[in-house]
Amino acid sequence: MAPSRPTGLNLKMNVVKIERLTTSDEGRLRAIRLRALQDAPDAFGTTLEEASRQPFEVWRRQLEQFAVFVSTTGDRDIGIVRGGGHEDCNGAAYLLSLWVAPEMRRQGIAAALVDSVVAWARTEGFRRLVLDVAESNAAALALYMRKGFVPNGTFGTLPHPRRHIREYQLEKKLEPEPPPAMNDVAGHLEVRRLDDRLMRNLDALDEVRAKADLAKYELNVARVQ
Ligand SMILES: CC(C)(COP(=O)(O)OP(=O)(O)OC[C@H]1O[C@@H](n2cnc3c(N)ncnc32)[C@H](O)[C@@H]1OP(=O)(O)O)[C@@H](O)C(=O)NCCC(=O)NCCS
Repeated sequence: MAPSRPTGLNLKMNVVKIERLTTSDEGRLRAIRLRALQDAPDAFGTTLEEASRQPFEVWRRQLEQFAVFVSTTGDRDIGIVRGGGHEDCNGAAYLLSLWVAPEMRRQGIAAALVDSVVAWARTEGFRRLVLDVAESNAAALALYMRKGFVPNGTFGTLPHPRRHIREYQLEKKLEPEPPPAMNDVAGHLEVRRLDDRLMRNLDALDEVRAKADLAKYELNVARVQ
């Protein structure tokens, strides 16, 4: 999987970049996920204990299965988000695992990570992006609403033993790329322009031929006389 070109964000004095992890970045994925699960256990379905026990093979498979973006400053990973296909909803992608290190919050890093998944999902041809968020997670709810996600009426809970944590499902419609019909229209106009030029050239040729015929006729008449 080719890494995407890092994009730079100038945040206060820090330069923060976003990059897509490759399948050989299991160590980085594991390290940042464990930090996230330790920091915000009720924001995610997986527990720190479960994740700590996962072999490297599982982390590597996750890198094949999901598009994983991390935000970095210097050589530190300070934020993560993942995007994947959604098996339940046709045409929908799923955004999950969003987390930003506490010391780096409120600088637009999560917003930029969400943008990365939106861009990825659009490029992959998904029409909707869905996610689950705990109803008590005011910060994440505010962020997602600001990024254009709205509740789609589906509710759930975290898995046992945290079933008491209720979640809303939010979704964002993804506008498709400019439809090919627009290109067809542009192509059609170009053909029309070429047709018009050809017709004008043919008319001009007819005119030249007619003049040549007339000249020939006049010459013949002159000879006869
Ligand atoms: C939710 C979280 C990812 C936000 O990260 P962040 O980098 O601080 O968010 P941003 O700086 O990009 O915020 C963008 C906007 O979201 C909203 N927002 C973010 N955090 C907010 C908060 N604590 N309170 C209210 N609004 C908030 C604001 O509108 C903010 O814009 P503003 O700063 O100009 O007002 C971060 O708090 C976090 O990692 N929390 C723990 C993990 C988590 O809950 N993940 C979500 C799982 S569904």
